[in-house]
Amino acid sequence: MVDNPAARALFGDRLGLAERYAELLVTAGVVRGLIGPREAPRIWDRHLLNCAAVAELIQPGARLVDVGSGAGLPGLALAIARPDLSVVLVEPLARRTAFLVEAVEELGLAGSVAVLRARAEEATGQLPGGLADVVTARAVAPLDRLAGWCLPLAKVGGRLLAIKGASAAVEAAEHAAAVRRLGGGAPVVRVCGAGLLEPATTVVEVVREGAATRPAKRRRPARRSTSDGAPGRLGARRR
Ligand SMILES: C[S@@+](CC[C@H](N)C(=O)[O-])C[C@H]1O[C@@H](n2cnc3c(N)ncnc32)[C@H](O)[C@@H]1O
Repeated sequence: MVDNPAARALFGDRLGLAERYAELLVTAGVVRGLIGPREAPRIWDRHLLNCAAVAELIQPGARLVDVGSGAGLPGLALAIARPDLSVVLVEPLARRTAFLVEAVEELGLAGSVAVLRARAEEATGQLPGGLADVVTARAVAPLDRLAGWCLPLAKVGGRLLAIKGASAAVEAAEHAAAVRRLGGGAPVVRVCGAGLLEPATTVVEVVREGAATRPAKRRRPARRSTSDGAPGRLGARRR
């Protein structure tokens, strides 16, 4: 067992499951290029604990959508720490959703976690179970773009919880007007895991207040076709 008081506090009796997920990340996750090899020694501090700490902001029994899950962060860490949550992992890249589907199965989380292969901006209407109480995202996009993608995935009154680093307060202030135009309330900076983690996890919280409007489409260069770059039409798998 991991000898870490924060890990015990955050994962409780699911610490063994968190250890199995950590093992998957530092083995298959690294081999398949989802986790950098330099991340392996800090998989607990920088990744699992940093993400699981956000659980303190999430109400019991919430429906959670994690946008841009990658190898499952923060969505899978939260699903492990909080068995009461129902979680959808939204990720456009096939290589990553394949890993997520396997991890969900291997960890025995099929009853509470679904994987949806889609871009966030195309995921409304595809979410198994409907709109979310809470949408999470870590290291996916700047706050204004995240608000445009994530607020439409939340119910009115639901929240975006964006894990941000030291730039959280600056980003919250810089993007407040854009977030408001997109249907969000004033971004608020929250600190999670204080006294447990060093550094604590910084989160920008935005409440969906009204109709979420989509940002104007940005012009994009012609699409490249890559083996894993194309978004799925309906890649949802209940697993
Ligand atoms: C830097 S990774 C972060 C992965 C994970 N959240 C973490 O913290 O380890 C960014 C992820 O966002 C995904 N992503 C990029 N654009 C997206 C979009 N429009 N909708 C959903 N996910 C997207 C990428 O495929 C990638 O897995």
